[in-house]
Amino acid sequence: MDTPQPRTAVYPGTFDPLTMGHRSLVRRALKVFDHIVVAVAEQTPKQPLFSLEERVDMIREVFVNEPRISVEPFHGLLVDYVAERGASVILRGMRAVSDFDHEFQMALMNRRMNKDIESVFLMTDFKWLYISSTIVKEVAKAGGDYEGLVPVQVMRRLQERFGPPNGRNK
Ligand code: COA
Repeated sequence: MDTPQPRTAVYPGTFDPLTMGHRSLVRRALKVFDHIVVAVAEQTPKQPLFSLEERVDMIREVFVNEPRISVEPFHGLLVDYVAERGASVILRGMRAVSDFDHEFQMALMNRRMNKDIESVFLMTDFKWLYISSTIVKEVAKAGGDYEGLVPVQVMRRLQERFGPPNGRNK
């Protein structure tokens, strides 16, 4: 009998920055896949706060002791990167119904471009339903408390940019 191939999923995103929601999703996905590649996009419609290199470094720090998770930058089309990587699954998180339209559109467009690649969705843990990278940055910039919403490695970088939370809403 053939030895089963390890199942790799590519988890793409801007990750500007990675939040606890992303971290939890990657770890949960390890129950389904053997290996997760966190693929950090250079090309995104957003204007990221952190450079591609900073985003990749931060995420590598977060998963440093987790050999089944790797972190790589990617350029150009996601489907091309997934194919080059020898994978056939794109992993995405879904937080609420509001994510659905956008995710559906991306999944269909990606499938149109490469029929051998499937998109797989995991529901975000309810604890992280309300957070996004944008909302965390907004609170950090204004001096609010966001402790616990991002890994400590990310919190450190946000504090370097915006200073410590002012403690007002503790
Ligand atoms: N927990 C917390 N937040 C989550 C989350 C979770 N589990 N899942 C998603 N989010 C947040 C993200 O932080 C992000 O927040 P933000 O808008 O405040 O930055 C948002 O939900 C998702 O943003 P979205 O724009 O859908 O995706 P993305 O930024 O994560 O990544 C790419 C988009 C990179 C995958 C897409 O642009 C891409 O594939 N680019 C490459 C070029 C390409 O192939 N384009 C064609 C695509 S069809």
